[in-house]
Amino acid sequence: MAAGYSEKVMDHFRHPRNVGEMENPDGIGHVGNPTCGDIMEMYLRVKDKVITEAKFKTFGCGAAIATSSMITELITGKTLEEALKVSNKSVIAALDGLPPVKQHCSVLAEDALKSAIDDYLKKTTGKGLEGWQPHNEH
Ligand code: FES
Repeated sequence: MAAGYSEKVMDHFRHPRNVGEMENPDGIGHVGNPTCGDIMEMYLRVKDKVITEAKFKTFGCGAAIATSSMITELITGKTLEEALKVSNKSVIAALDGLPPVKQHCSVLAEDALKSAIDDYLKKTTGKGLEGWQPHNEH
Protein backbone atom coordinates (compact mmCIF):
# COMPACT_ATOMS: atom_id res chain seq x y z
CA MET A 1 0.00 0.00 0.00
CA ALA A 2 2.91 2.29 0.71
CA ALA A 3 4.35 1.63 -2.73
CA GLY A 4 5.44 4.84 -4.37
CA TYR A 5 5.64 6.89 -1.18
CA SER A 6 8.96 8.32 -0.06
CA GLU A 7 10.26 7.73 3.44
CA LYS A 8 9.55 11.36 4.29
CA VAL A 9 5.92 11.02 3.21
CA MET A 10 5.52 7.91 5.34
CA ASP A 11 7.19 9.63 8.29
CA HIS A 12 4.89 12.67 8.12
CA PHE A 13 1.89 10.40 7.58
CA ARG A 14 2.71 8.25 10.60
CA HIS A 15 3.90 11.09 12.81
CA PRO A 16 2.20 14.23 11.55
CA ARG A 17 3.54 17.49 12.97
CA ASN A 18 1.28 20.23 14.30
CA VAL A 19 -2.00 18.31 14.21
CA GLY A 20 -4.93 19.68 16.14
CA GLU A 21 -6.88 22.82 16.78
CA MET A 22 -5.51 26.12 18.01
CA GLU A 23 -7.15 28.29 20.60
CA ASN A 24 -7.94 31.78 19.31
CA PRO A 25 -6.03 31.52 16.03
CA ASP A 26 -5.30 34.72 14.09
CA GLY A 27 -6.36 33.08 10.84
CA ILE A 28 -8.43 30.01 9.98
CA GLY A 29 -8.49 28.32 6.60
CA HIS A 30 -11.21 25.89 5.63
CA VAL A 31 -11.05 24.20 2.25
CA GLY A 32 -12.30 21.17 0.38
CA ASN A 33 -10.71 19.22 -2.42
CA PRO A 34 -13.13 19.05 -5.35
CA THR A 35 -11.36 15.98 -6.73
CA CYS A 36 -11.98 13.69 -3.77
CA GLY A 37 -14.24 15.60 -1.36
CA ASP A 38 -11.69 15.60 1.47
CA ILE A 39 -11.57 18.67 3.71
CA MET A 40 -8.90 20.46 5.71
CA GLU A 41 -8.65 23.23 8.26
CA MET A 42 -5.53 25.24 9.00
CA TYR A 43 -4.93 27.58 11.92
CA LEU A 44 -2.29 30.31 12.06
CA ARG A 45 -0.81 32.39 14.84
CA VAL A 46 0.69 35.57 13.39
CA LYS A 47 2.87 38.12 15.13
CA ASP A 48 4.33 41.15 13.35
CA LYS A 49 3.42 39.54 9.99
CA VAL A 50 5.40 36.41 10.87
CA ILE A 51 3.72 33.01 11.27
CA THR A 52 4.78 31.87 14.72
CA GLU A 53 2.61 28.75 14.87
CA ALA A 54 0.59 26.66 12.40
CA LYS A 55 -1.72 23.72 13.03
CA PHE A 56 -4.04 21.66 10.89
CA LYS A 57 -6.85 19.15 10.96
CA THR A 58 -7.79 17.07 7.96
CA PHE A 59 -10.36 14.52 6.96
CA GLY A 60 -8.11 13.54 4.12
CA CYS A 61 -5.93 10.78 2.79
CA GLY A 62 -2.39 9.93 3.83
CA ALA A 63 -0.90 12.29 1.24
CA ALA A 64 -3.10 15.11 2.54
CA ILE A 65 -1.90 14.43 6.07
CA ALA A 66 1.77 14.31 5.03
CA THR A 67 1.58 17.45 2.88
CA SER A 68 -0.23 19.50 5.50
CA SER A 69 2.19 18.33 8.18
CA MET A 70 5.10 19.38 5.97
CA ILE A 71 3.56 22.72 5.02
CA THR A 72 3.10 23.69 8.69
CA GLU A 73 6.81 23.04 9.20
CA LEU A 74 7.80 24.99 6.09
CA ILE A 75 5.80 28.12 6.95
CA THR A 76 6.54 28.41 10.67
CA GLY A 77 8.88 31.35 11.18
CA LYS A 78 8.17 32.78 7.72
CA THR A 79 6.57 36.12 6.92
CA LEU A 80 3.13 35.98 5.29
CA GLU A 81 4.72 37.02 2.03
CA GLU A 82 7.30 34.21 2.20
CA ALA A 83 4.64 31.69 3.24
CA LEU A 84 2.55 32.58 0.18
CA LYS A 85 5.46 31.48 -2.00
CA VAL A 86 5.32 27.98 -0.50
CA SER A 87 3.46 26.17 -3.26
CA ASN A 88 2.25 22.59 -3.36
CA LYS A 89 5.28 21.92 -5.59
CA SER A 90 7.68 23.05 -2.88
CA VAL A 91 5.84 20.83 -0.39
CA ILE A 92 6.12 17.86 -2.76
CA ALA A 93 9.84 18.58 -3.22
CA ALA A 94 10.36 18.80 0.56
CA LEU A 95 8.71 15.38 0.89
CA ASP A 96 10.97 13.87 -1.81
CA GLY A 97 8.03 13.54 -4.18
CA LEU A 98 4.49 12.20 -4.32
CA PRO A 99 3.03 9.67 -6.76
CA PRO A 100 1.33 11.47 -9.69
CA VAL A 101 -2.16 10.33 -8.64
CA LYS A 102 -1.70 11.93 -5.21
CA GLN A 103 -0.38 15.32 -6.33
CA HIS A 104 -3.83 16.92 -6.11
CA CYS A 105 -3.79 16.16 -2.37
CA SER A 106 -0.92 18.62 -1.90
CA VAL A 107 -3.07 21.34 -3.45
CA LEU A 108 -5.40 20.96 -0.48
CA ALA A 109 -2.57 21.93 1.88
CA GLU A 110 -1.61 24.94 -0.24
CA ASP A 111 -5.24 26.05 -0.52
CA ALA A 112 -5.75 25.69 3.26
CA LEU A 113 -2.72 27.90 3.89
CA LYS A 114 -3.93 30.55 1.44
CA SER A 115 -7.39 30.44 2.95
CA ALA A 116 -5.96 30.93 6.46
CA ILE A 117 -3.82 33.88 5.34
CA ASP A 118 -6.84 35.33 3.54
CA ASP A 119 -8.86 35.05 6.75
CA TYR A 120 -6.08 36.70 8.77
CA LEU A 121 -5.84 39.60 6.31
CA LYS A 122 -9.62 40.09 6.26
CA LYS A 123 -9.65 40.25 10.04
CA THR A 124 -6.70 42.62 10.32
CA THR A 125 -6.92 44.81 7.22
CA GLY A 126 -10.55 44.41 6.15
CA LYS A 127 -9.31 43.13 2.78
CA GLY A 128 -8.49 39.59 1.77
CA LEU A 129 -5.63 38.09 -0.15
CA GLU A 130 -6.91 39.30 -3.49
CA GLY A 131 -5.08 42.45 -4.35
CA TRP A 132 -2.95 42.27 -1.22
CA GLN A 133 0.25 44.26 -1.75
CA PRO A 134 2.54 43.59 1.20
CA HIS A 135 5.01 46.28 0.13
CA ASN A 136 2.43 49.04 0.06
CA GLU A 137 1.52 48.60 3.69
CA HIS A 138 4.60 50.20 5.19
FE1 FES B 1 -8.36 13.47 -0.97
FE2 FES B 1 -5.82 12.96 -1.05
S1 FES B 1 -7.42 11.75 -1.88
S2 FES B 1 -6.78 14.74 -0.33
